[in-house]
Amino acid sequence: MRITIFGTGYVGLVTGACLAETGNHVVCVDIDADRVAQLSRGDVPIYEPGLDALVTGNVNAGRLTFTTDAEAAVAHGRLQFIAVGTPSDESGAADLQYVRQVADTIGRYMTEYRLVITKSTVPVGTADEVRATIRAALDARDVSPEFDVASNPEFLKEGAAIEDFMKPDRVVIGVDNERAADHLRALYAPYNRSRDRCMVMDIRSAELTKYAANIMLAAKVSMMNELAQISDRVGADIERVRTAIGADHRIGYHFIYPGCGFGGSCFPKDVRALGSTSKQHGYEPALLDAIEGVNMRQKRVLFERLQAHFGDLAGRTIGVWGLAFKPNTDDMREAPSRTLMEALWEAGASVRAFDPEATGEARRIYGDRADLALCDSALDAARDVDALVVVTEWHIFRSPDFDELKTLMAQPVIVDGRNIYEPDYLRREGFTYYGIGRAAGNPAPV
Ligand SMILES: NC(=O)c1ccc[n+]([C@@H]2O[C@H](COP(=O)([O-])OP(=O)(O)OC[C@H]3O[C@@H](n4cnc5c(N)ncnc54)[C@H](O)[C@@H]3O)[C@@H](O)[C@H]2O)c1
Repeated sequence: MRITIFGTGYVGLVTGACLAETGNHVVCVDIDADRVAQLSRGDVPIYEPGLDALVTGNVNAGRLTFTTDAEAAVAHGRLQFIAVGTPSDESGAADLQYVRQVADTIGRYMTEYRLVITKSTVPVGTADEVRATIRAALDARDVSPEFDVASNPEFLKEGAAIEDFMKPDRVVIGVDNERAADHLRALYAPYNRSRDRCMVMDIRSAELTKYAANIMLAAKVSMMNELAQISDRVGADIERVRTAIGADHRIGYHFIYPGCGFGGSCFPKDVRALGSTSKQHGYEPALLDAIEGVNMRQKRVLFERLQAHFGDLAGRTIGVWGLAFKPNTDDMREAPSRTLMEALWEAGASVRAFDPEATGEARRIYGDRADLALCDSALDAARDVDALVVVTEWHIFRSPDFDELKTLMAQPVIVDGRNIYEPDYLRREGFTYYGIGRAAGNPAPV
């Protein structure tokens, strides 16, 4: 099939590369000329495991190209995917300006049938808006080629995006006619070999499904973080609680890790956006507001722990392990590391930070500043620090040489924002250890 994808971010690029891999001819279009030039040179601007090779292979095979030429891109694909960003606006609603721009562009240039598919996460009702925007652009040209609009939300996880796309749990297809459904079923057939994963439904249900999935997961995280806060206050160890409740199949072990709050480009904005949709429709979403409120509070927990330990943080140097919002990505959108570092700077402290993939992104966001040293190794980030904070649970942080760490650090204080270490072991090794929801001094199990 001939496919056009608007947006070459995490979703657009992975979608483009994966669809090209199964033999489709894909044109990816972006308004960011630097990004397009970089991609055309075979240089992938984001870190996603396996993506470099997939992009390079398909570019070399002539199945994947990048352009800023929207007119040529609209002419290319019978299927036109919208995979542009939908960040929060000031009110918390999804900002649909980029989606509207793409719909207008398609309407301005299309000359024959097009199936326009929103892959971006968009509020319920956006497909109607996309359809109206295309219709208005066609009317302005006084032409009326046929087109369909469909919703095909994306469920990939950064860090495992290719695997998720190639072997999806489900493919949600929101359509209002058979023609659109047939195109999408055919497109996804190669990813459905073992069983049919396509779930065809009406467009509004498809649009809501994406939010529903993210909100369920975000709710689990905030619930565990709230339990961790209670655990700290009552003198329990949330990790023991977690393993016990996870054994109940109705709860399960996924997404019940207490930590320093969720970040990333999806959960925070999607919780806000669904809340906004809900309010627009006259329903006060008490639970959605609580999920966000708990998370915002949790993202301050590392800073508050340091403040409680040191009192005044002015003049202190704090080591930060992990900048990305989760392991295996370089994405720092709404990352807990940002809340921590910004609070530390505000309090007059300095930061030494290391992340295996996101130091470049941190440099792009914060530039050169005297109170931020972006280090080349984990140990370097621990040099002469008053405390070390684990913010992202990259594998390489899991078993450091604690003897060497203690020698390097000015004070042996570890704040473990992901509960990856054993508190008793670290205390025996001479560290002051703080975890999340693991009240200091818990008796060891007998
Ligand atoms: N990142 C994820 O893990 C993930 C997962 C599932 C769904 N989503 C959703 O997918 C959408 C895209 O997310 P992302 O993380 O890939 O975004 P992103 O910010 O990484 O990329 C968006 C890209 O769209 C481009 N763009 C903006 N306007 C354009 C236009 N008019 N024409 C062409 N390109 C344009 C931008 O330049 C940018 O390169 C969002 O709605 C997001 O919620 C993201």
